[in-house]
Amino acid sequence: MGSEIEKTFKFVIVGGGIAGVTCVEQLSSKFPSEDVALITAGPHIKAVTNYKQVSRTLEEFDVEEKPFSVLQEKFPNLTVIHSAVKSLDTRSHCLETADGRVFGYKKLCICSGARPKLLTQENPYVLGIRDTDSAQEFQKQLSKAKRIVVIGNGGIALELVYEVRGCEVIWAVKDKAIGNTFFDAGAAQFLIPSLEADKAEVAAPCKRQRYTTEKPNPNAAHTFTADEYSRGQKPGGVQPGSALGPDWHRGMELKGAEQVSRRVSVEYQCEVEQILTSEEFLVSSKQTLKPDTGSWPVYVQLTNGKTLGCDFVVSATGVVPNTEPFLHGNNFSLADECGLQVNDHLMTSEPDVYAAGDVCTACWEHSPLWQQMRLWTQARQMGWYAGRCMAADVLSEPIELDFCFELFSHVTKFFNYKVVLLGKFNAQGLGSDHELLVRCTKGQEYIKVVLSRGRMVGAVLIGETDLEETFENLILNQMDLTAYGEELLNPNIDIEDYFD
Ligand SMILES: Cc1cc2nc3c(=O)[nH]c(=O)nc-3n(C[C@H](O)[C@H](O)[C@H](O)COP(=O)(O)OP(=O)(O)OC[C@H]3O[C@@H](n4cnc5c(N)ncnc54)[C@H](O)[C@@H]3O)c2cc1C
Ligand SMILES: *[C@@H]1O[C@H](CO)[C@@H](O)[C@H](O)[C@H]1NC(C)=O
Ligand SMILES: *[C@@H]1O[C@H](CO)[C@@H](O)[C@H](O)[C@H]1NC(C)=O
Repeated sequence: MGSEIEKTFKFVIVGGGIAGVTCVEQLSSKFPSEDVALITAGPHIKAVTNYKQVSRTLEEFDVEEKPFSVLQEKFPNLTVIHSAVKSLDTRSHCLETADGRVFGYKKLCICSGARPKLLTQENPYVLGIRDTDSAQEFQKQLSKAKRIVVIGNGGIALELVYEVRGCEVIWAVKDKAIGNTFFDAGAAQFLIPSLEADKAEVAAPCKRQRYTTEKPNPNAAHTFTADEYSRGQKPGGVQPGSALGPDWHRGMELKGAEQVSRRVSVEYQCEVEQILTSEEFLVSSKQTLKPDTGSWPVYVQLTNGKTLGCDFVVSATGVVPNTEPFLHGNNFSLADECGLQVNDHLMTSEPDVYAAGDVCTACWEHSPLWQQMRLWTQARQMGWYAGRCMAADVLSEPIELDFCFELFSHVTKFFNYKVVLLGKFNAQGLGSDHELLVRCTKGQEYIKVVLSRGRMVGAVLIGETDLEETFENLILNQMDLTAYGEELLNPNIDIEDYFD
């Protein structure tokens, strides 16, 4: 680093996302008279508001973008440096920013988040959604679009296909079912009708069933058309009651160029073979491909043999941690998916450098009921815990892994249903050593319990089931439930009475 160190801070946090801001709040309130700096590239910070602890591990909150001045007002001894970190030298404990300034640190926490994996680089017809700017770009492009292709099967794709109106959506997923990151085939079947028309059906009677293998899903593509007006819902826009989970599209109208409401078709078990421009398509279609009706700016060739024309492609296929500026000249251990490896104190492999949120990979020996997922909840929990670990470190105090890492839990909303995920909700890592109990009332609720050796290890709760606290307790106390059998999900039994 060429320049002189401008100032050395006790604590430096990089990144104004949820992890970074929560870490700053923790450290600034614990050490109000120490020098703390937040270095962040964006003009806004993400703040957690309306935080509510729902039960022992479940939490709900909203995420708001705010100017970083709100943090400075709250913590007068905090310095906010508005620039991107360009490089890091862990040996001399200093960082250089894009505008050429150099800052020293005693303890550093990297919270630089992740960015979407893009199918191709620099293709104007392929969009990724990661922040407010890219969401606005998406909205702008969508307003002129008649057909888009969405690639990916995680949370972003799920929300997107549900929210878009006035534009045909073709959704390509590599799995047998939609929402594979969050659900199994059964839950996907429950949610699929939401992409269809009216929900004004009569709820079917409660059904209980027990099964140990997932039912395969049809390979064929489904087409659904929907008319949201008949459900009394405004397209896009603010939906009342959506304060439950933070949603990126809130207040944004996701409307295409056509006068249709929701129109989604799903292509299962396929990935993108290649993306073609209209010229490339014309050339190749003479040889092998059947021409698509009409002419489109871009074509997506899928591994199932179909080639689909569209106005643009949304790439929602997962994220890559933002580690590049920090790596050169240092010895960080990286995980498979390129996150900075952290131990149970959120320390990286470099001395005095911590990491939290999407940028890191949790490499301690996990609790059997927890897994890392790059979500708001975990960004907040990790930022908070990193702050506590950094504080404990400078005070030479011992600290134990926080309780929130005992049990995976997440509350969110998909297709306007409340969704609670607990523990090994998809039987992750359990192999065949598990059993599933399912209760489903069409259009109302879907409850799935994962049992292993008679103990509850995970659950998916869709709808207003009111079971989250009871199930959380059953999972945490690992009580043997063999004696209850299928009664566990009997809708006529008030399960809470059993276990109180
Ligand atoms: C479109 C979208 C929708 C999502 N929806 C949900 C949802 O509904 N529920 C949910 O739980 N999760 C959701 N997620 C995931 C969630 O947003 C992330 O898990 C979470 O924001 C991670 O927080 P973070 O603080 O680690 O990183 P980020 O929020 O990504 O923040 C990273 C910060 O670091 C800054 N930065 C990056 N590089 C540098 C650098 N070199 N120098 C300085 N600053 C830098 C950035 O400007 C930013 O301020 C969604 C993600 C996306 C993209
Ligand atoms: C800021 O730090 C100074 C000492 O460096 C201290 O006297 C002052 O009380 C701190 N401000 C607040 C609001 O804690
Ligand atoms: C990285 O590790 C290697 C071998 O362990 C060592 O030789 C080298 O000096 C280290 N580099 C830095 C920047 O610490």
